[in-house]
Amino acid sequence: MPRIGDPAPDFTAVTTTGTIHFSEFAMDNWVVMFSHPADFTPVCTTEMSAFALEEEWFRQRNTKLIGLSIDSVHSHLAWVNNVREKTGVYMQFPIIADLDMSVSKLYGMLHPGESETAAVRAVFFIDPEGKIRLMMYYPMNVGRNMDEVKRALIALQTSDEKKCAMPVDWRPGDKAIVPPPKTLEQMDARIANTEYEKVDFYLAKKSI
Ligand code: BEZ
Repeated sequence: MPRIGDPAPDFTAVTTTGTIHFSEFAMDNWVVMFSHPADFTPVCTTEMSAFALEEEWFRQRNTKLIGLSIDSVHSHLAWVNNVREKTGVYMQFPIIADLDMSVSKLYGMLHPGESETAAVRAVFFIDPEGKIRLMMYYPMNVGRNMDEVKRALIALQTSDEKKCAMPVDWRPGDKAIVPPPKTLEQMDARIANTEYEKVDFYLAKKSI
């Protein structure tokens, strides 16, 4: 089961856009990979439609989307077409048909206490170096929060770009955490600093 900081396991899989070699698909992009328990189920339909509606938002942030469930590609195609016909929402990102559960097992998406045969609602954030940076897991009966998925991606990208950390509930426009001092000299410099918003030397924020 991969953990934060691990290289994203590579795989080859059949998807709704053809066979994908993950490392080639992901090359030089952020990737948000998410699993859903099953096609033609209500919560999954709301979540996957939400990803489809935000695909352009992710694309503008150098981020590719890829879904997965333990269903056949025929089932995926029928479901995607049904959702398009009923709601006008078209899931154009690839959806992995993980019938042999190989990718689900590789990424730890099967949580037997929840289901032996369906993937839980997982989200993996993978950076352009192919490293897993953030993971979310939701159970069968609670859908994910698209606002939080988007917020987490921006927080990761901004943290990398500005070399800072993000405090609770951080959103674009908010101040970011300045890395705390590691030596007495740095501590004294931080105490003397008048530029940052400070609670104390170890908790300081700055505009970014
Ligand atoms: C749903 O997406 O609605 C769902 C899928 C699997 C189990 C329970 C609910």
